[in-house]
Amino acid sequence: MKKISLTGIKPTGDLHIGNYFGAINPALELAKEYDARYFIADYHGLNTMKDPVELNSTIRQVAAGWLAAGLDPEKVIFYRQSSIPEVFELTTMLMAFTAKGLMNRAHAYKAAVQENTEKGNDPDAGINMGLFTYPVLMAADIILFDTDIVPVGKDQVQHIEMAQDIAQAVNANYNQPVLKIPQAGVQDNAAVVPGLDGRKMSKSYGNVIPLFVPEKTLHKTIMRIVTNSQAVEEPKDPDASQIFLLYKLFASAEEQAALAARYRGGGMGWGEAKEELFRVVNRELAPMREKFNAIMADIPALDKILEQGAAKARPIAAATVRRFRKAAGID
Ligand code: TRP
Repeated sequence: MKKISLTGIKPTGDLHIGNYFGAINPALELAKEYDARYFIADYHGLNTMKDPVELNSTIRQVAAGWLAAGLDPEKVIFYRQSSIPEVFELTTMLMAFTAKGLMNRAHAYKAAVQENTEKGNDPDAGINMGLFTYPVLMAADIILFDTDIVPVGKDQVQHIEMAQDIAQAVNANYNQPVLKIPQAGVQDNAAVVPGLDGRKMSKSYGNVIPLFVPEKTLHKTIMRIVTNSQAVEEPKDPDASQIFLLYKLFASAEEQAALAARYRGGGMGWGEAKEELFRVVNRELAPMREKFNAIMADIPALDKILEQGAAKARPIAAATVRRFRKAAGID
């Protein structure tokens, strides 16, 4: 039997090429080898997004984005967390095995408390219980599907360790392997994607190249990449330029070698380097953008794909809850 890979996608808008190389592509690669279950973590989104119109449209945008990027819903079980009531049943059961102290140690919660303290606010100001218990919901997402591996970024490793702790507490209590213990699949060699300003590409830095904007906007964005003041004729070090680092993500080995030689030879200005970058980026993104727009133009069809995914996911989820309830004496 194939092993199971599962990951949750938080509904945050405007996917960018950092997400594409850092999360989407690695997860789609993994789906070739594993039985993959990928879902939109919309109830996680509710913790921070209280505007219904925004949340609703963001859910569709990320779903459409993953499909446009190549997720095949025939091969990957692709669904919305909110369509699986068993997630919330399992969350309640796991709560009974989760030490409050464990949640106190969660990085995200600790950072929020620290920020409040530094500002002289009440330590728990603005922190809702959804945020505080976030790791339990995430543990339920994972454990529900007998997950072997969770492809995530380094920032999520603590959450996976918490899921392990909680599942182990359950198994230890009943003295049997009721729940599968998941592992984090952190790709050490995942591409670090530089942003427009050279720092890591991140929505919070405002330095992203979005995946699905119109061609003109894409061009304009790439033209905004920050460069030094080296003159056109000066030889340039390709590896010291985020323009070239971005180029490498999209270009073939031959293209990379040829352009690196032009950087080193002098005579190529930053404007031209950006045009070369735009050419390869647009070559890859144009078909994806078209797919994305087509998917977004038919939301009922998109919703149907997600519902079909949920229909495949629910029997698996129900089996886990049944197993746990039986072990717990609630059957
Ligand atoms: N916490 C993850 C993030 O912020 C999203 C997420 C929710 C998730 N549930 C998950 C990731 C389960 C992996 C597995 O990106």
